[in-house]
Amino acid sequence: MTAENRSDAQAARPAPTGGRLLAVSDLHISYQENRDLVEKLQPTHPDDWLLVAGDVAELATSIEWALGLLAERFARVVWAPGNHELWTHPEDPLPLRGVARYEHLVEFCRGIGVLTPEDPYPVWEGADGPVRIVPLFLLYDYSFRAPGTSTKEASLAAAYESGIVCADERMLHPDPFPDRDSWCRERVRLTEERLAACDPDVPLVFVNHYPLVRHPTEVLWYPEFAQWCGTELTADWHRRYNTAAMIYGHLHIPRRTSYDGVPFEEVSLGYPREWRKRGLPDPLLREVVLRAAR
Ligand SMILES: [Fe+2]
Ligand SMILES: [Fe+2]
Repeated sequence: MTAENRSDAQAARPAPTGGRLLAVSDLHISYQENRDLVEKLQPTHPDDWLLVAGDVAELATSIEWALGLLAERFARVVWAPGNHELWTHPEDPLPLRGVARYEHLVEFCRGIGVLTPEDPYPVWEGADGPVRIVPLFLLYDYSFRAPGTSTKEASLAAAYESGIVCADERMLHPDPFPDRDSWCRERVRLTEERLAACDPDVPLVFVNHYPLVRHPTEVLWYPEFAQWCGTELTADWHRRYNTAAMIYGHLHIPRRTSYDGVPFEEVSLGYPREWRKRGLPDPLLREVVLRAAR
């Protein structure tokens, strides 16, 4: 962008609305206590946007209930799928698997105006300038290997040996891909194509169920679990792209860290047994902290 058309773009920019950019993940509303909390969620301003970084629920009807309720209350809801939404749970009357299940959820979201990784990336007009919201669906590829292993097979074997195996192995089907890592690699490829077409002058806010870098998984109680938490293929994305913030969940370890100057925030609610022990995140809907303009 030249200096001239940059100033044109700035002149044409709509004024900030006064609303806030909020984020949450891992609502897990199949637990009644979590459902009760979600029923009480309200925006703080009519123009608040809400970023939902996956693990709303497992059953399609529960996912639809929660996203529908949030879409009625917030000016804009942006959803990135978690692993739980992609399970084909034995109790779910919706038997769809893999890509077909994901596409079904995307279609539902379109019907209620919730944005997904399949939609054009929307621009949030904040007080400090515009940022582009980038919901991601990338999955994982077992490259965050278990300690002491160097192949997917050895990493999985170590997990089975320790008894720490993600339920995705039983319920998150990759159809029509041969395995989840192939699906992940294709998602990364498709997403890189879209990111290459974004205006590099507008900073990005990534919203993904998993952290884009491995570091946040280093505090997991069971290190074998990291292999279900992301991919090394995105390790440099927060440096390669003009990144203002990275929002993720899945780990159920709410905290804010920073890598190469980029704020990363884990915004989960988590299971009742977890938040009862440590207390609810306060506030539950985290305001997205953006990297200061460079
Ligand atoms: Fe979760
Ligand atoms: Fe998850």
